[in-house]
Amino acid sequence: MQSIYLIGFMGSGKTTIGTELARHLDWQFVDTDQAVEEQYGQSITDIFATDGETVFRNYETHVLKQMPLDDAVVATGGGIVEREENRQWLQKYGYVIFLDAKLAEIRKRLVHDQTRPLWKKNQNDVELLYERRYNLYLNTADQVVETNGKHVHDIVNEVIRGINDQVSGQNKNKKE
Ligand code: S3P
Repeated sequence: MQSIYLIGFMGSGKTTIGTELARHLDWQFVDTDQAVEEQYGQSITDIFATDGETVFRNYETHVLKQMPLDDAVVATGGGIVEREENRQWLQKYGYVIFLDAKLAEIRKRLVHDQTRPLWKKNQNDVELLYERRYNLYLNTADQVVETNGKHVHDIVNEVIRGINDQVSGQNKNKKE
């Protein structure tokens, strides 16, 4: 089956849910952020600090296109939807799930986070970024899963139900 791409804002649980989902499906789990760090031999923080966001986005697009197209759960960076090219790739090659977490919940999770350069900006900027990206996530997704206050296994079950609907052709949201 085509791979599953998890999209959503920083701290929405893509890695946690993706790992558990992959285990459940017995598929491999991959992560575009991790692939960038491995392939370019630098942490994301260092890439942003030394080369800037545009270079990071170029790396991100490059690794996205190397991700397995079948039987993989792919966690993506929160900014993957910024580029039209990436959105088209996701929609064309995978089943896209938006993990929809409220900003208030994300704030609690990332309160001590030091690894995300765009999170460390002031909170007003983060709110604008969240609002701006929200529709991009919605418009790119085949399935939207609200995660607020839910346990990981409940979210994974919801995702699996959506996949089963899609496989059996019942998912009315699936694009032609
Ligand atoms: C980013 C999100 C991060 C990482 C980078 C940029 C963003 O990934 O790709 O720091 O632009 O939202 P996570 O969504 O896994 O935190």
